[in-house]
Amino acid sequence: MTAAQIRSATPADLPGMAVIYNDAVRHTVATFDLEPRPDDHYADRVASTRPGDHVLVAVAPGGDVLGYAFSGTYRPRAAYDGTREVSVYLAEDARGQGLGRRLYAELLRRVDADGVHTCVAVIAQPNPASEALHRAHGFEHVGTLREVGYKLGRRVDTAFWQRPHPDGR
Ligand SMILES: CC(C)(COP(=O)(O)OP(=O)(O)OC[C@H]1O[C@@H](n2cnc3c(N)ncnc32)[C@H](O)[C@@H]1OP(=O)(O)O)[C@@H](O)C(=O)NCCC(=O)NCCS
Repeated sequence: MTAAQIRSATPADLPGMAVIYNDAVRHTVATFDLEPRPDDHYADRVASTRPGDHVLVAVAPGGDVLGYAFSGTYRPRAAYDGTREVSVYLAEDARGQGLGRRLYAELLRRVDADGVHTCVAVIAQPNPASEALHRAHGFEHVGTLREVGYKLGRRVDTAFWQRPHPDGR
């Protein structure tokens, strides 16, 4: 797994990213989408040139997309421009090997360099791996919304985690 390359996503990565996302749609509450998305689901994010917006992929030596992480709009109102929402998804057999850590390290390096003031992560409960990953990268739990989702036969809480710019910018 250490051989995986972390780089900016390109349009050629979109189908591989969609496979990973749609597996999460079908089998987890990590996303509140209920139906699979088309291959171009992340096309607008990949095309964004706005500072603070990034999409990274982890790619196996053979070229397969193993996972991805992104930063993007938190809410589409101008006063939120210094904030980004971040997230990360790995293929099931790529989890638990440090790849999430590597993706987030590079994502947050780029977001910090762009001067983003604060990052927000919304973690549907329960998700101990995601919480451990965010905690390891300086996020803290700031609150939980109770039973805002309904998926896979149960109501789901969402925990909000937040990370300020490390230099206080
Ligand atoms: C959440 C996810 C991205 C984590 O990435 P990962 O590569 O599996 O995690 P890493 O191996 O980099 O480990 C990161 C931390 O999580 C911990 N961790 C990993 N899997 C864990 C698990 N199943 N339970 C508890 N902790 C776990 C690791 O010990 C590590 O903590 P540490 O730094 O304190 O030692 C990955 O599991 C995933 O893609 N899950 C499905 C999609 C998802 O839930 N995305 C998050 C949406 S908010």
